[in-house]
Amino acid sequence: MILVTGGAGFIGANFVLDWLAQSDEPVVNLDKLTYAGNRENLASLQGDARHVFVQGDIGDAELIARLLAEHRPRAVINFAAESHVDRSIHGPGEFIQTNVVGTFRLLDAVRGYWAALPASEKEAFRFLHVSTDEVYGSLAATDPAFAENNRYEPNSPYSASKAASDHLVRAWHHTYGLPVLTTNCSNNYGPLHFPEKLIPLMIVNALAGKALPVYGDGMQIRDWLYVKDHCSAIRRVLQAGRVGETYNVGGWNEKPNIEIVQTVCALLDELRPRADGQPYASQISYVTDRPGHDRRYAIDARKLEAELGWKPAETFETGIRKTVQWYLANPDWVAHVQSGAYRDWVSQQYADTAA
Ligand code: NAD
Ligand code: TYD
Repeated sequence: MILVTGGAGFIGANFVLDWLAQSDEPVVNLDKLTYAGNRENLASLQGDARHVFVQGDIGDAELIARLLAEHRPRAVINFAAESHVDRSIHGPGEFIQTNVVGTFRLLDAVRGYWAALPASEKEAFRFLHVSTDEVYGSLAATDPAFAENNRYEPNSPYSASKAASDHLVRAWHHTYGLPVLTTNCSNNYGPLHFPEKLIPLMIVNALAGKALPVYGDGMQIRDWLYVKDHCSAIRRVLQAGRVGETYNVGGWNEKPNIEIVQTVCALLDELRPRADGQPYASQISYVTDRPGHDRRYAIDARKLEAELGWKPAETFETGIRKTVQWYLANPDWVAHVQSGAYRDWVSQQYADTAA
């Protein structure tokens, strides 16, 4: 079996759902259930013996050691993190605790478990750390895309904490021999995305008749990858990545934010036109820029393609359409997230079951 951390969040939940749709290998899912963790994301796995959910912190070394001893996973995949740049600007402390201290405690507990494994299991074991392209800093308009050997130049408390965690993972390999893999991915989008991030925020605000806040001039560029393509890349790296290597994961989809927002608006105009016939783009509102806002991210994903044959399945056009359709088809999920009711989902669900 595998141990996944942060599997109630956006990417982790998509990963767990896709994993169990494609294989019968069980998953232990450890998640602290912060505001970003939503067990409703995993509702379809209720009663499925292949999924064991444990609420807990990656920084709880005792808990990790117990879970490892009990379940004896062949791999650990670390998604757990504080992930929102704007939150990291307002309150960096949690980012240091989870992303840096938590990753350290997780790594060290995993090292203790791994070191005591019989030789063949020790050889096959992997610790896969999920990271971000933001560790490389910001690109000028004509700079080449980030390659794996780019120097680290993180600019936000979020990216600095992720960079620190990447360094710890690297050191646990070089110093202790822990068989690690690291993936650095660009901006994800797709189902189950918490509506504090650009794309889901624009969809839910547009539908609610609210303003669509675009930071600064809206010309910041991100590379966008459909979340299920990120999940397939992680599965591929886990399966065949070379130990100690890092792999950049990207969608070859560099776009300025304003174009993303306009695309979302145009899809909503087509799929759920406003009652007054006005375009959703009329709700766009330029607001004060994010402090220290990185201008451009771009990923060179050629290593992953050349070594492991991975390529994204979705184009931005197909992925964003699926995403908007998913939000339109799941108003309850959106409503629960917006009202905070998702936090009560487990107790409600059990109450309903009992009744
Ligand atoms: P998310 O914020 O949606 O989910 C994070 C999950 O981790 C939540 O379920 C939360 O409850 C859990 N968590 C937080 N602190 C924890 C702790 N101390 N112990 C256990 N669980 C904890 O984040 P996401 O967008 O799904 O990102 C997952 C990973 O992918 C993160 O490591 C992030 O840095 C990385 N990443 C994200 C993106 C993106 O575009 N979202 C891109 C590249 C890399
Ligand atoms: P976000 O989804 O927060 O991801 P990240 O900061 O990790 O790239 O933001 C994506 C881009 O969209 C980023 O350049 C900031 C911008 N943005 C807005 O313009 N308005 C918003 O309301 C949000 C949340 C983000």
